Amino acid sequence: MIKNLTVDDQKRAAAEAALEYVKPGMRLGLGTGSTAEHFVRALAPRAAKLKLTTVATSERTAALARELGLTVSDLNDVRRLDLTVDGADEIGPGLVLTKGGGGALLREKIVAAASDRMIVIADEAKVVDMLGRFPLPVEIVRFAWHVTVERIADAAARSGCSQNLMRLRGGEAHPFTTDSGNYIADCAAETIPDPERLAHLLEGIPGVVGHGLFISLASLALVGTPGGVTVLDLPHH
Ligand code: A5P
Repeated sequence: MIKNLTVDDQKRAAAEAALEYVKPGMRLGLGTGSTAEHFVRALAPRAAKLKLTTVATSERTAALARELGLTVSDLNDVRRLDLTVDGADEIGPGLVLTKGGGGALLREKIVAAASDRMIVIADEAKVVDMLGRFPLPVEIVRFAWHVTVERIADAAARSGCSQNLMRLRGGEAHPFTTDSGNYIADCAAETIPDPERLAHLLEGIPGVVGHGLFISLASLALVGTPGGVTVLDLPHH
């Protein structure tokens, strides 16, 4: 059968394909963004029967999940999750991801790191040969943010990125504020040839709370394409 799925249909198809991985009694992390929203909507009617415990990666997702009748728990009470299903801004080789386009990267990473498994759901435009075209979101504290932004630019240059243009999300007059009360600096790197090195350098900057590079967290990606869903797996998983 010939399909010709639009980008939104691709996201929905990937989200629905993820339902297959949700088993009864699971403790489940719910991602943030338009693809993750499709997942929450598809999951909601099945959640009670499956006796799931869910945790959200943002206030936005928590509000949507509650609106759809799900009970959203606190990760502090649940501690470990079996599975997290979330979107991505870019999916690079080895399932290294860029996340945070929706501003939820910190909670997304805390939830993913507390999960035995992370499955990424996305449309095919997210799959890239090298990360960097999508500006890398970095969550920073407000105090001396100019100083932190300069150090992020320096880290991008030192790790071999071809560009390091920084922008405070929302602009200086009305900066975007995360669920945790921080700012986000977006780094237009154009290419990120060495995500591990960049991640390491960013983690050494005192004003950085978290960054959008997700390394060794996702083990499977369900990618919607115009013709249907493709599975990207890691060789050792
Ligand atoms: C939210 O902070 C992001 O990490 C999202 O997962 C990412 O931006 C993907 O969003 P879409 O599913 O809307 O493309």
